[in-house]
Amino acid sequence: MAELLAGLGTSHVPSIAAALDKGLRDSDEWKPFFDGYIPAQDWVRAHKPDIAVVIFNDHGNSFFLDRIPTLALGVAEEYQPADEGWGPRAVPNFIGASDFAWHLADQMVAGHFDPMICRELDVDHGLQVPMELVFGRPAAWPVKIVPILVNTIQYPIPTPQRMWELGQLLRRAIASYPTDEKIIVMGTGGLSHQLQGARAGYINPDADRAWIAKIGADPARYRAMTREDYIAEFGSEGAELIMWLVMRGCMDDSVRTLHQQYFAPASMTGAGMVLLENMG
Ligand code: DHB
Ligand code: FE
Repeated sequence: MAELLAGLGTSHVPSIAAALDKGLRDSDEWKPFFDGYIPAQDWVRAHKPDIAVVIFNDHGNSFFLDRIPTLALGVAEEYQPADEGWGPRAVPNFIGASDFAWHLADQMVAGHFDPMICRELDVDHGLQVPMELVFGRPAAWPVKIVPILVNTIQYPIPTPQRMWELGQLLRRAIASYPTDEKIIVMGTGGLSHQLQGARAGYINPDADRAWIAKIGADPARYRAMTREDYIAEFGSEGAELIMWLVMRGCMDDSVRTLHQQYFAPASMTGAGMVLLENMG
């Protein structure tokens, strides 16, 4: 059977991609941030996952407000990076783990999750940035991907509890997949930010630090919170954090936090990551 190697949660802020594109990786401002991902990069180099399941939201690039699936699943053989308005980025196409994705599609429908099935999909910064943070800028990506898209853009968004249950389903889908492929699950988005409305610019570093500290060892509160709680605590776009619950929900009750970091930079978004390993 396939094996879940680790869960990783990370922000997917687009300015990270812009910093890489402008060659600012080692600038005074950005180096501490990118260096914080070196342990995760070392970890994937040592453990060599075959497939990355990436849970993210599209930001009006592949779906717009006229039609937004609450849940979508990519089953394509290949995905292009979405052009978000500044031209195509120098990022290789992503190769889909199509066989596993179809298995997951079947398991999701059998388990009453009913995603929109995408044979064709451009993937935006929500997926690109986490992949670059973890795998760098290779000529070709060392893993195949399975994109799971969650609507966190237009209300009503799914509930945190539902995201946890999707994680549990993903866990069963991995356990019932009859290959020996190794899988890393990446939950993306957040941390606290609000890009719109009266609270535009809101971030909550205390809540972010608590999230990073507890999402591995003590996630019960985050699963029980309402969507409104997420918005109040993390901001309207900080509610993207519900996607980390898919990652956490697919892991063992007991996990070891291999690495964690948090930055509350002088910007619009708290940024952080955790790398979790199952403890059985
Ligand atoms: C921004 C966009 C995002 O999708 C995100 O998750 C964080 C920040 C931004 O535009 O600043
Ligand atoms: Fe986002």
